[in-house]
Amino acid sequence: MLRLQAAHDVEVWEERLPPTPDELARHAADAEGLLTLLTDRVDAALIEACPRLRTISNYAVGYDNIDLAAASRRGITVGNTPDVLTDATADLTFALLLAAARKLPEATRAVHEGDWLTWEPARYLGAAVHGATLGIIGTGRIGRAVATRAEGFGMRVIGAGSRDPVDELLAQSDFVSLHVPLTEATRHLINAEALGRMRPTAILINTARGGIVDQAALKTALERGTIAGAALDVTDPEPLTPDDPLLRAPNLIVTPHIGSATTAARERMAELAVENLLAGLAGRPLPHQAN
Ligand code: GLV
Ligand code: GLV
Repeated sequence: MLRLQAAHDVEVWEERLPPTPDELARHAADAEGLLTLLTDRVDAALIEACPRLRTISNYAVGYDNIDLAAASRRGITVGNTPDVLTDATADLTFALLLAAARKLPEATRAVHEGDWLTWEPARYLGAAVHGATLGIIGTGRIGRAVATRAEGFGMRVIGAGSRDPVDELLAQSDFVSLHVPLTEATRHLINAEALGRMRPTAILINTARGGIVDQAALKTALERGTIAGAALDVTDPEPLTPDDPLLRAPNLIVTPHIGSATTAARERMAELAVENLLAGLAGRPLPHQAN
């Protein structure tokens, strides 16, 4: 902030909730640079409403909230924050994998609800992680960091890129973890058919983007036992309201998009977002440019 204010006029949106599209358009109308969160939709209409805009710095590694083609057509540079959140997101992926495998929510709930009556040989029985096969869809930075962790846990790892066929991977995996960006090609990649290829004992983990999974199909698969469980840090829409039908599905863990939520990762994301913005405003190439 201080570095930005030293060189530029800065307006900050101080509310807890993001601006509506109208509010964003109104406040951004004269801006030359924007520092956006993944909750800010920067579509072609917004870009058109900002004639002076030269650079957009997204405080996220993903930039599916930004119409990259529309920005590029106007010569607007778009920055993102890769690398600095890779390990934090891979750690959360593993936290979800372990929590789902070992039924941590159910077990902790029992303690709070006074249902820990004795040591029971056949309760809270989960899935073995050691020796299991982890299928990683998306073998970029985060997918590879998850693979490193999986090796430490004695898992067998198989991977597929965002353009590879995933049928075999889905059929062979005890855990499937998603690490592709959300694009038109990956939207609903995990649909009813894909879920149907998974093992009935398999667990799906998504720390990438909610739109990669067809949530209605996931709900059905969990209810029917087509798969054994799912752990999602991202949903479509976000936030997921408490009355969302998905939350009635069994064997489901949902966290509120906290993949990069460590103090260190968020600080480094902020630094990188500021560096991108300062470079863009100075007409220099961005340290991490998405277009
Ligand atoms: C968070 O989801 C990010 O893309 O940084
Ligand atoms: C994003 O950081 C990725 O490449 O996985």
